[in-house]
Amino acid sequence: MTGRVDGPDKVTGRARYAFEYPVDGAAYAWAVPSVIARGTIRSVDATGALAVPGVLAVITADNAPRLPGTDDPELALFQGRAVAYRGQFVAAVVAESPEVAGEAAGRVVIEYDQAAHDVTLTADHPGLYKPDFVNPRYETDTAAGNFDGAFAAAAVRVDATYRTPAEHNHPMEPHATVAVWEGGTLTVYDSTQGPSRTAGQVAAVFGLEPGQVRVIAEHVGGGFGAKGMPRANVILAAMAARVTGRPVKCAVTRSQMFAVTGHRAPSIQRVRLGAGPDGRLTALCHDVIDQTSTLKEFTEQSAVATRHMYAAPHRRTTHRVVRLDVPTPSWMRAPGECPGMFALESAMDELAAACGIDPVELRLRNEPAVHPETGQPFSSRHLTACLREGAARFGWAGRDPAPGARRERRWLTGTGVAASTYPARAMPSQARVTVSQSGCYQVLIAAADIGTGARTALLVVAAETLGVPAAAIDLRIGDSALPPAMIAGGSMGTASWTWAVIKACRALRDQVRARDGAVPPGGLSAHADTTADIGALPAHARYAFGAQFAEVRVDADTGEVRVPRLLGVFAAGRIVSPAQARSQLIGGMTMGLSMALHEESSMDPQFGDYPNHDLAGYHIAAHADVQDIDAVWIDEEEPDLGPAGAKGIGEVGIVGTAAAIASAVYHATGIRVRDLPIRLDKLLRGNP
Ligand code: MOS
Repeated sequence: MTGRVDGPDKVTGRARYAFEYPVDGAAYAWAVPSVIARGTIRSVDATGALAVPGVLAVITADNAPRLPGTDDPELALFQGRAVAYRGQFVAAVVAESPEVAGEAAGRVVIEYDQAAHDVTLTADHPGLYKPDFVNPRYETDTAAGNFDGAFAAAAVRVDATYRTPAEHNHPMEPHATVAVWEGGTLTVYDSTQGPSRTAGQVAAVFGLEPGQVRVIAEHVGGGFGAKGMPRANVILAAMAARVTGRPVKCAVTRSQMFAVTGHRAPSIQRVRLGAGPDGRLTALCHDVIDQTSTLKEFTEQSAVATRHMYAAPHRRTTHRVVRLDVPTPSWMRAPGECPGMFALESAMDELAAACGIDPVELRLRNEPAVHPETGQPFSSRHLTACLREGAARFGWAGRDPAPGARRERRWLTGTGVAASTYPARAMPSQARVTVSQSGCYQVLIAAADIGTGARTALLVVAAETLGVPAAAIDLRIGDSALPPAMIAGGSMGTASWTWAVIKACRALRDQVRARDGAVPPGGLSAHADTTADIGALPAHARYAFGAQFAEVRVDADTGEVRVPRLLGVFAAGRIVSPAQARSQLIGGMTMGLSMALHEESSMDPQFGDYPNHDLAGYHIAAHADVQDIDAVWIDEEEPDLGPAGAKGIGEVGIVGTAAAIASAVYHATGIRVRDLPIRLDKLLRGNP
């Protein structure tokens, strides 16, 4: 089975996304965003909004229902008068149509007591502090040996600071919710990466039992981390539905997504590498400076990949964060590994140049036998195989390392390489499988397909395990009423869900076999829970790896960068569904290209706002930006991660791509761009 099972539904428009669910008598909620970055709401005048025909209610801090579960300040909608960032939802209009609601939202008059705000991250910000841990719960700092002494004594040293900008997730489908109350129970159709998690969190906010909230997310138009948790739109829709006694639809606008649905915080990262003349690392240090909001601490784990990539006896990693008057950062596309590996892998390229060693060879020389900090064995690690396979396929051998030495008419050309990595994990999930007397199977799990092909992958393993054609299986996902499951996030969906599905399918298959295939009239069913299996995993270091190769052309006159060729070679355990996997990997690499050249949310210090506000002002790589791109993988057996042996590929595709492109730009031009994105002006500044 190679086709995507939901493909026909998607191309014919039958696939239903959250906002499209038909409900009788729907009303529409439209949020009013704060226009200050810090301060207090003094007064709200809803008179003008309420006078618009079709307006049903204006919800503000003065009249909003009290929410009992306000642990997450981003979900404590209209529960106080303080404003923590520009764009925060401070009121909402509910009306008969979205047009009326939007029009009336502009007529809600809010007076503020504005306070001075601070939205600018600097490396010496006095508010920087050491958080107790970094995401998701890694140690903040690590150290081994004597970094300072070894670095000072090193024959070759690299000491460079890299910067990545704020970036916004921007899935094609904006966040949207339809909320329906029936008595004390709430059903929400929501665009989410995790129906089970969203149901639990929404129930907590409204003080309900988990079973009183049902979340349905049949099709999701991308998430990229931004839909890993419920956002303000879910709470607003449910609150507005309660206030008006009507089902309520609420869609976040593209412009509002720059404030309320999460983003990647900007980072300032200093990397120091000390090596012998042979390129073997003796000292390695990665110091990360990051920002979070005043509402919540969210510290991106950007130095954690540095802890396991390369051998070096003397090493240190640190993270510091400052609370600014900015929207709360959140999970975005390989959080941590993606910006962190831009810095580390760029520094490795600088070290290769400083040592006069080929950058592929440099990485091979620094391959660790075990996890360099914990001493744990790797469950499986094939980075060197990826580098060698990639070098062969890409035609790396014989590369002239001289920067700025190749020109074809007006184009300067170059190539670059970088390593990739992402943790390989699974989280407890449950599944139920049933068979009827007539031989129809059902597989039930509250997984989510956010456009990755999860449905197809789950059908592949279910059909294989049950020994029946996929067409005989009715797979149900995307509903919190199904057995609870891990979110589609952290590259853990496939490993987590296939584990539960295969376990349940095996149990059912054994029942059927025990009866010699005779299914009783009431059918048979089996339930699986992987909590104990995952709890019993050995103490191994588990990661996916990859090698990214890039070719670039840089216009010598304009600084325009083109990427004629990208190749990624990955080692990620079993690839369950090859066609979807390749698509997901080249999607990740395209995001990496986008990060390298385009994506940048710039902060306006005066208003405290990311003023990009749409996809014209926030450029994401489009088809014309991508030329020859390919992703392949090597055969890898992963013994730990469940019966499928799948490591997950959601995020490893993006990691390293930006460093490979930046290194190729250096090779083409001799200009090392250490702050993303690689804009024209940065290349022309050094090349007048
Ligand atoms: Mo992904 S950023 O872990 O949803």
